[in-house]
Amino acid sequence: MTKIGILGGTRFIGFHLVKAALQKGWSVSIFNRGITKPPEKLPKEVEQFHGNRNNGRGLKNFFKNDYDAVIDLSGHTPAHVKPIVELFRKKIGHYIFCSTSYVYQTPPPVPIDENSPRTFAPGTYGGDKALAEELIFDIAKKENWPVTVFRLQGVFGEYDAGAQASYVFRRLKNNLPVILMTKGDILFNPLYVSDLVDAFVKAANNEISYGKVYTIAGDDAVYMIDFVKRCKKIVGTELRTKIVMESSYLGTKIGVPWPDYSLVLNNNAVKNDLGINFTPLDDALSQTWKWLCENPKYLRPIVEREEKYVLQNKPISNFRRKLWRIGDKIKRPFSFLMRRF
Ligand SMILES: NC(=O)c1ccc[n+]([C@@H]2O[C@H](COP(=O)([O-])OP(=O)(O)OC[C@H]3O[C@@H](n4cnc5c(N)ncnc54)[C@H](OP(=O)(O)O)[C@@H]3O)[C@@H](O)[C@H]2O)c1
Repeated sequence: MTKIGILGGTRFIGFHLVKAALQKGWSVSIFNRGITKPPEKLPKEVEQFHGNRNNGRGLKNFFKNDYDAVIDLSGHTPAHVKPIVELFRKKIGHYIFCSTSYVYQTPPPVPIDENSPRTFAPGTYGGDKALAEELIFDIAKKENWPVTVFRLQGVFGEYDAGAQASYVFRRLKNNLPVILMTKGDILFNPLYVSDLVDAFVKAANNEISYGKVYTIAGDDAVYMIDFVKRCKKIVGTELRTKIVMESSYLGTKIGVPWPDYSLVLNNNAVKNDLGINFTPLDDALSQTWKWLCENPKYLRPIVEREEKYVLQNKPISNFRRKLWRIGDKIKRPFSFLMRRF
């Protein structure tokens, strides 16, 4: 039986992966701190190990097992991957590292592919992931160790609708205007979580993926307004939108969260090598909407305080912003206490 180790496994992508691996009949072990509550009860067949990537504690225990493949979803920095590649490499038949499109220099080319230039700025999300990738490939080349890196973006679906769909569906459901703070015509191809998990599963122990990097995102690259219209069609309610140039409200982040520049990942390599059929965006959004309707707590209305200014085309003064900041600082300890009790 294939034995698979998942570093992570309890929040979103990892939980989907656990379920997909079990469905394949694989034996699954996961490693995390035991802090994140899984969206549903973990299946009893899953072997659980606890420890912390920040200090390496618990890894020795997890690697008492030998794994045919380990999929690393919780590695963010070179320090996180160093013990894996230096101490436990021999326990791993194939290592798959989950990276991100943030590794690319900005603004990136359109589309981005596996060879587009990366940033290596330490202490940044993308820079640290790129440095971790380098460490992995250095050792993999020297030791002839099978590794694969996936660079992904904009993952959404059941258990996490993603920033864009969460906002738009929530607004539509509550008949609130959808605010588009736009920098202009920016394209983005989000990724349905089931397609990503399919790729992880098909890559595991598959020689064709050894030594490769794959950029992975969905087939449909969309502009912000198209994305909103697709969601509207699914919900079937009236669409009230307000399009505002971001430059009129500098520093105000409200409305549909959208990348600052086009982020279109080319998915040809992952299709050719692994035969992934990407779910059309409309179908993936419909599945996500269905899940949200079954979990209505994620659809509760949220009205942002900047909204009334933006909707009435009123400026937000610096004085008001300062007051808000002070108010936030005062409220923070109270809201922390409210969450605890
Ligand atoms: N979602 C996206 O759009 C997107 C885009 C690009 C890349 N990614 C990549 O996707 C991966 C995360 O996806 P996910 O959150 O859905 O994965 P997940 O595996 O479902 O959840 C993250 C897991 O990491 C564990 N974890 C966090 N900090 C840890 C630590 N210090 N030591 C040990 N375990 C730790 C968490 O459990 P505990 O909290 O209990 O430890 C949890 O099980 C990351 O590598 C991220 O860079 C995501």
